[in-house]
This record gives sequence, structure tokens and C-alpha cells, in this order.
Amino acid sequence: MTEFVTTALEDGVLVVKLARADKKNALTQAMYSALTDALSQAESDLAVKAVLLQGNDQVFCAGNDLEDFLSLKDLGQDSPILRFLTTLVRFKKPLLAAVAGPAVGIGTTVLLHCDLVVAQQGARFQLPFVALGLCAEAGSSVLLAQRVGQAKANEWLLTGKAYSSEEALAQGLINQVVEKDVCATGLAMAKQLAQLPSDALVTTKALIRAPFQAEAEKAIFDEAREFVRLLQGDECKGAIRAFFSRR
Ligand code: COA
Repeated sequence: MTEFVTTALEDGVLVVKLARADKKNALTQAMYSALTDALSQAESDLAVKAVLLQGNDQVFCAGNDLEDFLSLKDLGQDSPILRFLTTLVRFKKPLLAAVAGPAVGIGTTVLLHCDLVVAQQGARFQLPFVALGLCAEAGSSVLLAQRVGQAKANEWLLTGKAYSSEEALAQGLINQVVEKDVCATGLAMAKQLAQLPSDALVTTKALIRAPFQAEAEKAIFDEAREFVRLLQGDECKGAIRAFFSRR
């Protein structure tokens, strides 16, 4: 249990909120477990027609908690991160995200599993895995190129450079950019989907995802094996220590 992930049901939409703003919503192991529980609940609850993942109107998610990474030894299929990723990649109902501020690491790769994404002006997307001595995760080694094309996927994953909402929109990572109130916009989008015929929605999502489903699931496990190896390396440990000693 953690108070850093909250859920609320509104007009058929389960709003799943990251609520650890003082740490920029960096995800701890407990938060991954809470997210898995929320998605599992959403999958089985007939009252839930769509899910909105959000932080607040200032911050979405600064990625995995880097301190947690230092003590992480295992990324087996029962680990909180792998349980979350497999639940996410297999999630059948429409999943939306509202993004403001930083969307780093898993804060960006989670969007590859979302069906619609709205971001606020000033949001900042980044995949700094290589600079951290790590590799792609959450299926991003295949899903990013499928979403934005190989050239941009190479650029974003290899250089780790940050990019704006406008660039994310231009490249097709997200659907819409708003000036403000991104969470309210995300909720309105989710409520619109929630009113549509459920079986048709779920069936259409499954058909859209089908050509990449097996590939995405395989990538999650292939990446996890390399990720956990790299986590134990000096390059990664040094980069994480450098982050915490930067001031
Ligand atoms: N893990 C753990 N703590 C984190 C964190 C993370 N991923 N991201 C931010 N925090 C913490 C900071 O240590 C800081 O804590 P403190 O107030 O106790 O010192 C607090 O959140 C605020 O972060 P800060 O860096 O001061 O905010 P900022 O607005 O200047 O920068 C980010 C925001 C997201 C650009 C910056 O925090 C960052 O780069 N974070 C790391 C992102 C990352 O590498 N994630 C892992 C990807 S695999």
C-alpha cells in the first residue's frame, strides 16, 4: 500500500493519479505495485470504461526512483516493475494519459502503452537511459520506433536529449497539446471514450495492438534482462550517485 498513487472513479473513468509531487512523482516499488493493482481493478470492474493516468498540472513523472534503482537486484516476472509492465502491455480497456512538466524514463515509455495522450505546454519528455548507464525498457526498444519512426526513436533513445510537447506532437508520440488544465482535458477525453460502446472500444484497441503485441511483450522481458545487468554496473551506479550529489 502507498499513499503516492490514488484512484477515483468518475463517469466510467478510473483516474489513477501519481501523488508524490515533492519527488516529481518518481516511481518506487510500492508505487508500481499500486499501479498494477489499479489497472487490475480497472480491468475487472464493469463500471470502469476507460482509465486516465495523470500526475498533476505541474508534474507527470520523473521516472523510476533512482534511489530504489541502487538497491534493485531482481527484475524477474514477479518483481513489482515487471508485474506492472506486463499488466500494462496486456491492459484491454482504453488507457489515456495527461502529461505536464517532466515525463522522464518510464514517465515517457508508459505513454507508448496509452491509447490517447494529451500534454501541457512546457512538458518535457526524456529517455536518459544511456546516460544513466542503462538501456530501453517497457517495450520501448520496439514500441517507440513503431510510434514515431526509427530515426526519432534512435535519436531519443541513444542521445537521451529532452524534447517538448510540440515536438512530441509533431512526431506522433502524443495526440494533443493544451496551454493549461491538462488533467481536466485528459478527463474530458476519457469521459468521451467512456460513453462509446464498450465492446467495440475494447475490440478496436485489441485489433490496433495485435500486430505488435507479442513483439512488445517479448521486448519487455529482453530489455529487463539487460537492464538488471546494467543496473549492477559501475557506469549506472556512478551516474545515479552523480544525480544525488549534483547540488
Ligand atoms: N528519483 C528519485 N528522486 C528524484 C527523481 C528520481 N527519478 N527525480 C527527482 N527526484 C527528487 C530530487 O532528488 C529532489 O529531491 P530533494 O528535494 O529531496 O532534493 C526532488 O525530486 C525534486 O527534483 P529536482 O531535481 O530538484 O527538480 P527539478 O525540477 O530541478 O528537475 C527533473 C526535475 C525531473 C528534470 C530532475 O529531477 C531529474 O532529472 N530527475 C531524474 C530523472 C531520471 O533520471 N529518472 C530516471 C529515468 S530511468
